[in-house]
Amino acid sequence: MSALQLLLSQHVVAVETRAESTDESLLWPEEDAFLGDVVAGRRWDWVQGRRCARLGIQQLGLEPRPILAGPKREPLWPSGVVGAITHTHGFAAAAVARSSDLRSVGVDAEPDEPLPKGVLKRISHSYEQEWIAAGVAGVAAADRLLFCIKEAVYKTWFPVAQVWLGFEDALVEIDEGTYSFGVTITAEGPISDLAGRYQSVDGIVMAAIELCH
Ligand SMILES: CC(C)(COP(=O)(O)OP(=O)(O)OC[C@H]1O[C@@H](n2cnc3c(N)ncnc32)[C@H](O)[C@@H]1OP(=O)(O)O)[C@@H](O)C(=O)NCCC(=O)NCCS
Repeated sequence: MSALQLLLSQHVVAVETRAESTDESLLWPEEDAFLGDVVAGRRWDWVQGRRCARLGIQQLGLEPRPILAGPKREPLWPSGVVGAITHTHGFAAAAVARSSDLRSVGVDAEPDEPLPKGVLKRISHSYEQEWIAAGVAGVAAADRLLFCIKEAVYKTWFPVAQVWLGFEDALVEIDEGTYSFGVTITAEGPISDLAGRYQSVDGIVMAAIELCH
């Protein structure tokens, strides 16, 4: 079972990889043409993210299809599927579900290391800075956890709202006892709160959110 799967319900299939090679054979021709000429690292991200997504779709019992991207880089899922893709530092993962079961899914993975200087101030509220200063059990870099959660929020939000959401538009509360979090969204839009779970495994901090109908 993937580490990400531990954060998700039975409605969601999560697939992850730390494969070293890119393995071009995994890419569908349409995806290859869409990606175009990019640096090797970006190619690995694209190939492995899509491979994970396709394996997940197959595990849902649905037909695998090429997964291209929309104008805001969002994955264009086959009809009947919702999901999200993440990749970082040689780790890639995707989480997918039937759209009849869930409205949206958001996942993000980050290196469990402090954010570069100055970033925390730009992405956080003072309340969030307080719990970050106190530290979060099981996570090395609480500031990175906040960033990770907010990226997962955006990936959950965007497919539903189809508009931008800023870091200042979400307020995150952590429940260390259950490795879970709640998010209040203050921007106008179709979602006002979200909930999810987090963990740090082998140097990667990850967050996952499921949005019900
Ligand atoms: C889009 C974004 C969330 C990606 O997160 P990241 O940590 O930089 O990168 P990750 O590797 O985890 O995720 C990249 C994947 O996100 C997905 N993604 C990109 N844009 C997306 C969007 N608009 N909606 C949903 N998913 C998106 C893609 O699948 C992408 O991988 P791919 O290009 O290989 O398909 C981030 O770059 C961004 O723009 N953030 C600003 C918005 C934000 O986070 N607001 C905070 C709200 S509280």
